[in-house]
Amino acid sequence: MHDQPQPAPPTAPDLFTWEFASNPYPAYAWLRDHAPVHRTTLPSGVEAWLVTRYADARQALADQRLSKNPAHHDEPAHAKGKTGIPGERKAELMTHLLNIDPPDHTRLRRLVSKAFTPRRVAEFAPRVQELTDQLIDAFLDKPEEQGTADLIHEFAFPLPIYAICDLLGVPREDQDDFRDWAGMMIRHGGGPRGGVARSVKKMRGYLAELIHRKRSDPGDDLISGLIRASDHGEHLTENEAAAMAFILLFAGFETTVNLIGNGTYALLTHPDQRARLQQSLAAGDTGLLETGVEELLRFDGPVELATWRFATEPLRIGGQDIAAGDPVLVVLAAADRDPARFPDPDLLDLSRTDNQHLGYGHGIHYCLGAPLARLEGQTALATLLRRLPDLQLAVDPEELRWRGGLIMRGLRTLPVTFTPPAR
Ligand code: HEM
Repeated sequence: MHDQPQPAPPTAPDLFTWEFASNPYPAYAWLRDHAPVHRTTLPSGVEAWLVTRYADARQALADQRLSKNPAHHDEPAHAKGKTGIPGERKAELMTHLLNIDPPDHTRLRRLVSKAFTPRRVAEFAPRVQELTDQLIDAFLDKPEEQGTADLIHEFAFPLPIYAICDLLGVPREDQDDFRDWAGMMIRHGGGPRGGVARSVKKMRGYLAELIHRKRSDPGDDLISGLIRASDHGEHLTENEAAAMAFILLFAGFETTVNLIGNGTYALLTHPDQRARLQQSLAAGDTGLLETGVEELLRFDGPVELATWRFATEPLRIGGQDIAAGDPVLVVLAAADRDPARFPDPDLLDLSRTDNQHLGYGHGIHYCLGAPLARLEGQTALATLLRRLPDLQLAVDPEELRWRGGLIMRGLRTLPVTFTPPAR
């Protein structure tokens, strides 16, 4: 009876419900099978195409006819400014890599790549390890509720914020301000309203002042590197520099929080895989950690949908006609579970090697921070498992709540228990 193919349900599953936020994968499987390029109405009221198959997703991410500039959005007049599409208000900080096309994108990306070198990231490894250990020490030293922690708020959330601040050259004494502003942005989903708008404004003011200071007193940090790069012939306005610092914070922050959060959750709910990883780490082997973090990104990555793209001319994706001006959202989480690309896609296999996942995107907007994200993800997970070997979820997985945002996928909280190590 179970071998009989089930007839397809007549209509597409409900998207963007709480149930969908907890586990969107069955709905994505349906879309891949029945409506791989699917027009939907988003909670904001905007209509957009969702691309769910791996081959179509990869092609769309590399298609230069899909612009990142929101000016190409053919928005109905009544919805102007209300769609929630970042950048539509042309705020200064919004003129950044993820909202622009070549040639501006090529120029800005070249500048930031010069300052954001693999060498700089590699040199940063001891600092990431130190931050990781300090955050674990802090929740081990709590006088109350010994042996418990919320790994999102006490660990995954502060780690990337301090790491990026250090990298940019934000002085240590100012980093807690960033933690507060970022907290406001993550709690309220990043829309340009109320407390979020105030946080963005404060961040902008702070960054403008910092850039000004670094111009006369440069250091060995990323912002000084950006200023140096722009002073060597290529032009970077102060606005562009502030927008660049902002996108590095913004793109590198919630994503890494969710890599650590989703990754830890996946390990805690797959005890066989977690045991394999603990054994290989105990034997001093980091091979499984490296393939494992890539697999965690494929299996339940932080970026569920790639950022907005807009058709600049009529085009076809996966046999579907798309009109000029239409928004296109590539569903990375669906593409990365496509059985046409990944054998047993719903299986978590930390040793998977043929794993060209789209968790960091593809094409000219491929994640600039991937080396830093890998460093932070690997350090955080390995250190947690080493220092807290009996780490367990403190609640039933059903009780966990996932954030309901459109682009990111991540947990609101991750309560855990462990035996505090003797110190
Ligand atoms: C696990 C963590 C991360 C994930 C999963 C991730 C994922 C992504 C994805 C999917 C994109 C492409 C979006 C698109 O094409 O629509 C992207 C772009 C980008 N990411 Fe990351 N990211 C992570 C961490 C970071 C970090 C740590 C930084 C920097 C500090 C960073 C900086 C950027 C920037 C600047 C872009 C825009 C690149 C461009 O438009 O040329 N990301 N990231």
